[in-house]
Amino acid sequence: MDLHLTGKRALVTGSSSGLGEAIVKALAAEGADVVVHGRDRARTEAVAAAIRSGGGSAHVAIGDLATDAGADAVAEAALSGGPIDILVNNAGAYPHRSWHDVTADDWRQTYEVNVISGVRMIKRVVPPMRERGWGRVIQIGGGLAAQPIADLPHYTASLAARHNLAVSLARTLKGTGITSNIVSPGAILVDSVERFLTDLAPERGWGETWDEIERNSIEELVPNDVGRFGRPEEIAAAVLYLSGPLADYVTGTTLRVDGGTVKGVH
Ligand SMILES: NC(=O)c1ccc[n+]([C@@H]2O[C@H](COP(=O)([O-])OP(=O)(O)OC[C@H]3O[C@@H](n4cnc5c(N)ncnc54)[C@H](OP(=O)(O)O)[C@@H]3O)[C@@H](O)[C@H]2O)c1
Repeated sequence: MDLHLTGKRALVTGSSSGLGEAIVKALAAEGADVVVHGRDRARTEAVAAAIRSGGGSAHVAIGDLATDAGADAVAEAALSGGPIDILVNNAGAYPHRSWHDVTADDWRQTYEVNVISGVRMIKRVVPPMRERGWGRVIQIGGGLAAQPIADLPHYTASLAARHNLAVSLARTLKGTGITSNIVSPGAILVDSVERFLTDLAPERGWGETWDEIERNSIEELVPNDVGRFGRPEEIAAAVLYLSGPLADYVTGTTLRVDGGTVKGVH
């Protein structure tokens, strides 16, 4: 199926690894001209080089989105090649803390990195979309926004803020041709998640092989109807749908990709 993404320009923040890397590669494979972003230049350049070597078109933008200066640099680099049609706000972090050890500074920093980072890019990239009368803004949210757990309170609250701001943005973009939506992953197997679970496995008795660890950790930590962690490519597939004209009539919505982790009808 042609998703009509050929020639669209897309910026995916935090695409030097994990979900963002899968999303930016999927958009490029559909013919989009992509901007790969990260703080780490070597990792970011490596993703762009892989896209180019596969025949795709990729540029690079480097900057820390927890600061205004970093966001300015990223926007300038991204917009220097032309206007952005698709903004995917994916950059973020989830430092493992509990209510017991999380500090006020952790809360502040997590809000900067996970929420204001996206707002900074919206403020810089959406005004030119308005002039062109078409655009896509996609926040990567998360199931923990709706179904928080005991730990990571600073992170789950930041996810809730991402969901909330995406809906508000959809309302303010009424009639502009720009949609604002959320892709809400469940627990997705990226390198850092695999390392975290493998380190925890001996203490929890989850087994030795990755297959055993995945099966047992899923049951204990993130039970879901499919019975496994999601894969980054499955998040990318949802982003592809929302990025193209097939989703012209979809705005202010949450597309959950979580194997049924979040229970409920909304
Ligand atoms: N994995 C999951 O299960 C899951 C589930 C729900 C939601 N999410 C969300 O998905 C997003 C990606 O997570 P991931 O699991 O793919 O993690 P990841 O592999 O650690 O990727 C995080 C990305 O964000 C970038 N980043 C981090 N802090 C930044 C900052 N201050 N400024 C600019 N870029 C920054 C990193 O760039 P560098 O190259 O500089 O490190 C990296 O590209 C996050 O927002 C996370 O909340 C993940």
